[in-house]
Amino acid sequence: MKIQHLLVTYLLALTLLLPCIESLKPFQYSAMIDRSSFPAGFLFGAGSSAYQHEGAAHLDGRKPSIWDTFVVENPEKISDHSTGDVADEFYYLYKEDVAAMKEIGLDTFRFSISWPRVLPKGKISGGVNWKGVDFYNSLINELLLNGIEPFVTLFHWDLPQALEDEYGGFLSPEIVNDFRDYADFCFQEFGNRVKYWITLNEPNIFSKIGYATGIYAPGRCSNYIGICTEGNSATEPYLVTHHLILSHATAATLYRHKYQASQNGIIGVTVDTIWEVPKYQTTSDRKAALRALDFYIGWILHPMTFGDYPMTMRYLVGNRLPNFTDEQSISVKGSLNFVGVNYYTARYVEDFSHDSSSLLSYTTDSHVKYTTEKNGIPIGELAGGSWLYIYPRGIREISLYIKKKYNLPIYITENDPNNISLIPVDEALSGNKRIMFHQLHLSYLLQAIK
Ligand SMILES: *[C@@H]1O[C@H](CO)[C@@H](O)[C@H](O)[C@H]1NC(C)=O
Ligand SMILES: *[C@@H]1O[C@H](CO)[C@@H](O)[C@H](O)[C@H]1NC(C)=O
Repeated sequence: MKIQHLLVTYLLALTLLLPCIESLKPFQYSAMIDRSSFPAGFLFGAGSSAYQHEGAAHLDGRKPSIWDTFVVENPEKISDHSTGDVADEFYYLYKEDVAAMKEIGLDTFRFSISWPRVLPKGKISGGVNWKGVDFYNSLINELLLNGIEPFVTLFHWDLPQALEDEYGGFLSPEIVNDFRDYADFCFQEFGNRVKYWITLNEPNIFSKIGYATGIYAPGRCSNYIGICTEGNSATEPYLVTHHLILSHATAATLYRHKYQASQNGIIGVTVDTIWEVPKYQTTSDRKAALRALDFYIGWILHPMTFGDYPMTMRYLVGNRLPNFTDEQSISVKGSLNFVGVNYYTARYVEDFSHDSSSLLSYTTDSHVKYTTEKNGIPIGELAGGSWLYIYPRGIREISLYIKKKYNLPIYITENDPNNISLIPVDEALSGNKRIMFHQLHLSYLLQAIK
């Protein structure tokens, strides 16, 4: 990933998915859509995350997060060896940026609060950094003054390094109470003006890429993967996700009991999604695609809806998958007012059985094989980087799948060709590809709503 220039534009959509899904006609690109095509309550927005966007990483009392440490210790894992020290300087430029958002006509702006900017040591007992609190107060006020609704993420992967050092961060159950206290502090300080709370951004990716493949902070994985000094790809991702889920549930329960009635907000989680396309129309590939969805998003949404992990995961992961106590299960179940969906791309999926030599990892436990092409034809146009194949109908499919399976209101919290940094500025500004990307995805989303 590249750290800078990640004011990721994306669309927030309150999808009012009605039960009467009209027969989905073949998509016609010529069918123009505009704002009035979308129902009342649909929100257009843009978003960011603190470490990728703010800069001022070592100023005004902010202390390091695991990402600050990671980029310095593992420069080879960052494509251009950049850091978030300066990023987009949003910390200084937020007023200009909010003015631009107003000019574009955004309804909402999603940003994350940097935990180590408000609680530099991670805990209330370690002291509050009031300069950090002032920054978020000013930002929220500036947004509201310009008629833009703040959509706030509490944890966008930038765990205070102090908590990583003290007890291994999300590997330890101790994180749950510290996250609850941090969330409580944010609800108390900002909740009178914030109506949309996302506890966690992409917990599935934080665990997978931070603890199974080792590519993101804190960069842990099994020895056999060859790029980490410590970790266990077969167990740690499950443990970390377990503690993320409990952290979410504890914060959501607290919000509901202590703040929701007076502050009138809603609280949810954002998951990364991939639309899984069975490679061949066989029963085994169709089952593999459903299993892949369970391992990717069911991992988070199944417990938060039904109180436990998907059966497929229980069966395939066995004793490496943690259990919820009855009390935990009750607090996790029903802990979402909505789900935030990050959608970028799709994959072909095939059934793939392990042979005995397979190495255990979260990434192999689902027994599926991912590919990006079939008979030499890619699943979609490659948008940049090596992973984002453009597959617009996937946004329709994933929205309908989540609505049907989990029956939650949906906000699309990220959807973007994710390519800004790879093309020259003037080309990016002309934006034809980007316009087409959004046109297509919005059209398919509209079909899902209808
Ligand atoms: C979870 O509970 C089951 C059933 O009681 C038990 O067999 C299994 O060992 C437990 N798993 C863990 C990780 O403790
Ligand atoms: C992404 O960048 C590549 C390489 O510069 C370019 O060819 C492609 O058209 C871009 N895609 C989008 C969707 O902007």
